[in-house]
Amino acid sequence: MQPNAIRGQMTLQEKIALCSGGDFYATKAFEQYGIPAITLTDGPHGLRKPAAAADQLGINRSVPATCFPTASLTACSWDRELLREMGGAIGEEALQQGVDVVLGPGVNLKRNPLCGRSFEYFSEDPYLAGELAASWIEGLQGRGVGASLKHFAGNNQENERMSSDSLIDERTLRELYLPAFEKAVKHARPATVMCAYNKLNGVYCSDNAFLLRAILREEWGFEGVIVTDWGALNDRVEAFEAGLDLEMPTSQGCFDEIVLAAIRAGALSEHRLNESVDRLLDLAFTAAANRRANFHADTEGHHRLAQRLAANSAVLLKNEGHLLPIPKDRKIALIGALAKEPRYQGAGSSHINPTKLASAIDGFEALGLDFTHYPGYPLQGPADEALMAEAVAGARNSDVAVIFAGLPEEYESEGFDRTSLTMPDSHNALIARVVEVNPNTVVVLAGGAPVEMPWLPMVRAVLNLYLAGQAGGLAAAELLAGVVNPCGKLAESYPLRYADVPSAGFYETGGKQAQYREGLYVGYRYYDKARKEVLFPFGHGLSYTSFAYSDLVLSHTELDAPHALKVSVMIRNAGGVDGAEIVQVYVGELDPAVGRPERELKEFAKVFLEAGEAQPVSFTLDARAFAIYDPAARDWVVPGGVYRISVGASSRDIRLQAEVRVQGRPARSAAREVPRWYHDLNGPVTQSDFEALLGRKIEPVQAPRKGDYTLACSFQDMQASFIIRQVIKSIEATVGKGLGGVDYSNPTFKLIMASSTGTPLKNLSQLSPGSMSRQLTTGLVHLANGRYLQALITLAKRPKSRTERSP
Ligand code: BGC
Repeated sequence: MQPNAIRGQMTLQEKIALCSGGDFYATKAFEQYGIPAITLTDGPHGLRKPAAAADQLGINRSVPATCFPTASLTACSWDRELLREMGGAIGEEALQQGVDVVLGPGVNLKRNPLCGRSFEYFSEDPYLAGELAASWIEGLQGRGVGASLKHFAGNNQENERMSSDSLIDERTLRELYLPAFEKAVKHARPATVMCAYNKLNGVYCSDNAFLLRAILREEWGFEGVIVTDWGALNDRVEAFEAGLDLEMPTSQGCFDEIVLAAIRAGALSEHRLNESVDRLLDLAFTAAANRRANFHADTEGHHRLAQRLAANSAVLLKNEGHLLPIPKDRKIALIGALAKEPRYQGAGSSHINPTKLASAIDGFEALGLDFTHYPGYPLQGPADEALMAEAVAGARNSDVAVIFAGLPEEYESEGFDRTSLTMPDSHNALIARVVEVNPNTVVVLAGGAPVEMPWLPMVRAVLNLYLAGQAGGLAAAELLAGVVNPCGKLAESYPLRYADVPSAGFYETGGKQAQYREGLYVGYRYYDKARKEVLFPFGHGLSYTSFAYSDLVLSHTELDAPHALKVSVMIRNAGGVDGAEIVQVYVGELDPAVGRPERELKEFAKVFLEAGEAQPVSFTLDARAFAIYDPAARDWVVPGGVYRISVGASSRDIRLQAEVRVQGRPARSAAREVPRWYHDLNGPVTQSDFEALLGRKIEPVQAPRKGDYTLACSFQDMQASFIIRQVIKSIEATVGKGLGGVDYSNPTFKLIMASSTGTPLKNLSQLSPGSMSRQLTTGLVHLANGRYLQALITLAKRPKSRTERSP
């Protein structure tokens, strides 16, 4: 039977019920109509199918699956083909596990390196993020498994992620925060898109008609299912209006009666509901048709793919005097607890139970290297003098010291943000001490995001592994020994210090309001135009060979905007080792009437060349590569003028340039006066600069006060209440009981506490309708407000209606 014929037989109540989850990771089946349930599980660098008890934070064990490197590392491959293979492999594991939709990829932009979830995202550049995400989705969906592109949109921090309001001017939204989604939607057609928790310009993403209906559905033509992030639904009626189809996980139908009443009262048209039902039926039947009973995924092969991905993504940041690769006859002091117990993935919903795990020690052994391992520091806690002294002595008696260092688990996770870019003192001090006794020191970095490197001038080589997945240790050894030639390049800038980050002065200082004051000037778009020195620029990465660029040719010197510009260049491997180069094409308008970054990445290619080999590489730049978004025209506009095409090895290592005159038209609104800061990026950007950019005054967000608390508050918001402080203490005690005590340096403890006390109560009761019913949370809010009688009445009465509204 056709989906709309089935829909015709369903009652109104059944149709409403179809649009919310059946349990934590599946929708409801309606056997009477033959409608199967859809299983959706995380994502994105492997499969996390809960083994028994489902949880959202990745705390309970899941079915073993290949843990690939996280997006922060795979992005550094700049390799569409590899990402496609990775998506395909995850698709095969999903088929084997009967999973219909994998919750990924995440394409939120790396706005600020403190974001706790940076490791799950690709880049500070939307073009790179969009290209890689589209390839990953094509790989996954090529196996008949759906993707869930997330988190749409403006979710660039973890603190307050469920309630903060991302204030972004439209041009910035269109040019920076949306294009990765747009590319993935238009080119790879993901089965689903997941809305973010936060508000965007005052409206929760779940009910944001501008974002979901006007842009995603109408402009980009998205026909798939829009699903909430887990527990992200704000208002079910508004959400239907906005085009959101599916609420996940189950909230045990707590919104069904509200929707029914709205339809009966004519406040919501049944047509909107039917649209969602049709999309869900379509997904359910497609998923069922694509299932492959008894499918066997080649997990051994996937382990090797995870190794290849890590080896082809890791970034050689520094290699003074060709210290690397290490010749085979050298005696190596392999230092660092992380060399034995690698940090290879991040914490939270993406946490995978790997099929196997290889450390650097395994990798060194597999290659027969001559090494001795010294832990150097404890995995957790402060420096240990004895461990350090032993490592220093070992380094003194070796030819080369290789130190595995970086960010321990408790530093970064979903659910909270980092507080600084510093590595633990125990790691920094160890590096400084080892360098004193052995100048041939290499640092191998683990961690999901940039760190400050006070020791950089002293060490001769740095290899950045990010979070390299279950086979990362093998890849590290291959790279250090020169079995594989490094070819990754940074997908984000590394600032010298946190204070240099353009949003440093106001990131998360506004409580529940995130002002994106820096506008377009994120990452290299800022550092390059502001002429700020960086530790390592966007696109940087070294190789054991070198590449020469020549013969830049543009197809036109004058161009009419709708026509494409062809760019070709000759790349030659000028060294003695085979290797791959990532060639980057940047476009920048000279003397723009409208403020623009100096150059923006618009194309790239990864070319493998044998030693001495040369190859032409060509690119096509379409009109969009030159365009800006003009909010007044509600369209992309190519401003006429002279554009510089820069081809290079990083955003700061431009090798060839040529110019083209483009016929275009002036932008209307974008040409209006914007404050001086957006032209010269000089000094701090103020709220009033930003208000001028936004075109409106910003209403301050008042911290909720006792008496005014609502279900939109979290326990943390209501800490002024003595009773709520006791509730927090009792949550601490309960969580601590299962985790060996109240210990905020334990990442799991910190994550659970951040999620349970930082989540608004309305979302808590959607996520755990059993233990945190609406009745209980409503009662707690009354208590926090000091309305004891109301609390008593609420808590004493038997729940009879599911339509209770906020107190
Ligand atoms: C995360 C999503 C994830 C979902 C389901 C949420 O907390 O933000 O990325 O897919 O949980 O586990």
